[in-house]
Amino acid sequence: MEHSFAYFCSRDSAQKTYLKLKDDGILNTALKPMPQGDFIAFPVTSGTEKLMFEPNEKTNYFERLLPLMDQPPSKWNILGNLVIFPKGSCTGEEEYDWEKIAQVFGCKKIGIQDEINPGELRRSQLKLIHGNNGWVSHQENFVIYEFDASKVMFSSGNITERRRMGQMDCEGEIIVDAYCGIGYYSIPFLARANAAHVHACEMNPDSIEALNKGLLCNGIQEKCTIHQGDNQSTLPNLREIADRVILGLIPSSEPTWKLAVDCLKPEGGIIHVHMNVDERKLDEWMAQTIDKFSRLSGKKATAIHLEKVKWYCPHIRHVVLDIRIG
Ligand SMILES: C[S@@+](CC[C@H](N)C(=O)[O-])C[C@H]1O[C@@H](n2cnc3c(N)ncnc32)[C@H](O)[C@@H]1O
Repeated sequence: MEHSFAYFCSRDSAQKTYLKLKDDGILNTALKPMPQGDFIAFPVTSGTEKLMFEPNEKTNYFERLLPLMDQPPSKWNILGNLVIFPKGSCTGEEEYDWEKIAQVFGCKKIGIQDEINPGELRRSQLKLIHGNNGWVSHQENFVIYEFDASKVMFSSGNITERRRMGQMDCEGEIIVDAYCGIGYYSIPFLARANAAHVHACEMNPDSIEALNKGLLCNGIQEKCTIHQGDNQSTLPNLREIADRVILGLIPSSEPTWKLAVDCLKPEGGIIHVHMNVDERKLDEWMAQTIDKFSRLSGKKATAIHLEKVKWYCPHIRHVVLDIRIG
């Protein structure tokens, strides 16, 4: 146990607070956050109140890697039974006991991650260096995602947005997910938020294979219709049926805005627009976007929430604007 300054937040906002403290560079990652009554206490590098914290397991991971690697990576990410090291932290060609290294994390596979391919299909650029395939079954926010991490992307940084979508009350709603991928939002909408049906549009066959598996293992396959192909041709078949439309593509989904508006029921509904926006121009972008949706729909458009998901690069934030139409 070790003494550290503590920062308190409610349990509901723990995930967001964690990311914010990490972003601000004041989270003491060598120590473990811990519950304190109704609150969570985070170990931080400055403050007024001090508490005793337990060492973070990550520190132990690092120590356990030392006898197995010359220079153990200081960062990693775990998806299901796959541990992922960032590119440059090892090449995979070293003569290491990869099985033992995977075991340190309780995993069976190891991958090296390069940047996600910025192309339309968001292909993963993960090189598998241990294990016979990249398929993982990853549990998060009480749902299971199944996908081949060597073929499709999975952004761990969007965890708060996946949880937010799953926490909405969508009882009885028909939802169109225009860029569904492996079901990042479609699955939580059906498995957690009680949506009645999701129309999931996707053009990458690898993502569709993963979505089918994810729907099956969450037991929600009957509540999802997959529309394979470019959404420029599939969305026009979904006119006037939806209570909610998700536009989960960055840097921008703008070419689909009119088609998305047309998917809403005649009385209107809600649209979640993902976008990469310069944080210095957020207000301006919001005003322009609301104006554009109002013109496209011929109805009143109102901003109901702006979610700041993550930093994409300096000054550029991945945001989601929730808009009510009508
Ligand atoms: C970036 S991923 C979704 C990520 C997810 N929104 C998240 O926040 O984690 C976007 C998905 O949209 C798909 N996509 C891109 N353009 C498309 C189009 N025109 N029609 C259908 N699917 C498309 C890609 O194949 C990819 O699976």
